[in-house]
Amino acid sequence: MSGLWTNSTLQFWTALTGTLFSLYAVTNTARFAWNFVRPSRLHQYRHADSGSWALVTGASDGIGFGFVQELLAQGFNVLLHGRNRTKLEGLQSDLQKEFSDQKIDIVVADASQYDDSYKAITEKVRTLPGKLTVLVNNVGGIHTTPTYLPHQDVPHDDIDACINVNLRFATHLIKDLIPVLRSKGPALLANIGSVGGIMGVPYITTYCGTKAYMHVLTESLKNETVAEGIDSIDMVAFLVGNVSSHTNTFDMPLTITSRQCAASCLAKAGKNSEALVWGHWKFVIAAYFTMMLPKMTARRLLGSEMRKRVEAEKKSG
Ligand SMILES: NC(=O)c1ccc[n+]([C@@H]2O[C@H](COP(=O)([O-])OP(=O)(O)OC[C@H]3O[C@@H](n4cnc5c(N)ncnc54)[C@H](OP(=O)(O)O)[C@@H]3O)[C@@H](O)[C@H]2O)c1
Repeated sequence: MSGLWTNSTLQFWTALTGTLFSLYAVTNTARFAWNFVRPSRLHQYRHADSGSWALVTGASDGIGFGFVQELLAQGFNVLLHGRNRTKLEGLQSDLQKEFSDQKIDIVVADASQYDDSYKAITEKVRTLPGKLTVLVNNVGGIHTTPTYLPHQDVPHDDIDACINVNLRFATHLIKDLIPVLRSKGPALLANIGSVGGIMGVPYITTYCGTKAYMHVLTESLKNETVAEGIDSIDMVAFLVGNVSSHTNTFDMPLTITSRQCAASCLAKAGKNSEALVWGHWKFVIAAYFTMMLPKMTARRLLGSEMRKRVEAEKKSG
C-alpha cells in the first residue's frame, strides 16, 4: 500500500483532485454568501418614465402584503391582487395615505377555482397607466382545515383548491404576462417557493408537491429564456422557511415576520444565476440542520415535529 503513495503520478492526481474540489467548494460558498450581502438591484426594474408597476398576488395579507409594503417603499406603483374586495379597498385606502406619490390599484380574482379567473388580472394589467416590470406570484397556502392531515384524510375538494391556488393560477398568469414583462424589461418574475418543496414535509403533502412544482417551473422558465435568447426578464423562485403570517401563526426558532421575508427576498432579486434562491439566511440555517442529518434520523425528527402540530390542532379543536 505504501508503494502506491510513492507513485508520483498518483500523488499528482490526488493533489489535483483535492485542489479542484477545494476550489469548487470555496467558489460555491463564496457565491452563496455573496447572494446574502450584495447590494439590492431592485432599482433596475424601476425604469419607466410613465411609472413602473409591481403586481403581487395574494397581496391582502401575510408575505404578499409584506411585498406590497416593501415595493411601495422602494418607489414602485403596486397592483394588489386578492379575493376579498372590501379588504383590498381598505388596504388601498390606508396605503395611499402613506404613499401619496405612488399609484395603488386592486384586482379581485379567486385563485382556488378551476376556471379562468386569472384573466381578470391580465385585463387589469392592460389598463395600468405605466409599465408592469415586477410580478410576484405569492398567492398560496395549505387550504385544509385542520391544516395538518394525513394525505388520505384530505378532502378531494381541498386537494383541488390547493393545486389551483398554488400552481394552476400562477402557471396561467405567467403565460399571459411573460409577453408584457418581456416587452417592458428589464423585468422581474418572482415565484414564492417553500422549504417544504425541497424537504417533503408530512401532513401537508399536496402543499409540498405544489411548491416543488413552482421551483421546477421557475428553473424551466429560466432555461427557456436562455434557449429563446430573452435577456429582459429575470426569473427567480424564493425558498421561504417559517414566516409569521395571517395563516401561519406557528412560532419556532428562526421565524421571521412577513415584511422581513419580503425585504430579504427583494434584496436578492436581479440577474441571479440560480433559479432557486434562499429568501433569508435564517431559512438556510433552519433547513440545513435537518438536511445534514442522516436521512432516516431527519425523517423521524420531521415526523415527530409535525405530529406535534397535528396533536396541537386536535387539542385546540
Ligand atoms: N408563512 C410561511 O411560513 C410560508 C413558508 C413557506 C412559503 N410560504 C408561501 O408564502 C406565500 C404566502 O403565504 P402566507 O403565509 O403569507 O399566507 P397568508 O398569510 O395566508 O396570506 C395569503 C394571501 O393569499 C390570499 N389568498 C388566499 N387564497 C386565495 C384565493 N383563493 N384567491 C385569491 N387570494 C387568495 C389571501 O387573501 P385573504 O386576505 O382574503 O385571506 C392572502 O392575501 C404562499 O405561497 C406560501 O406557500 C409561506
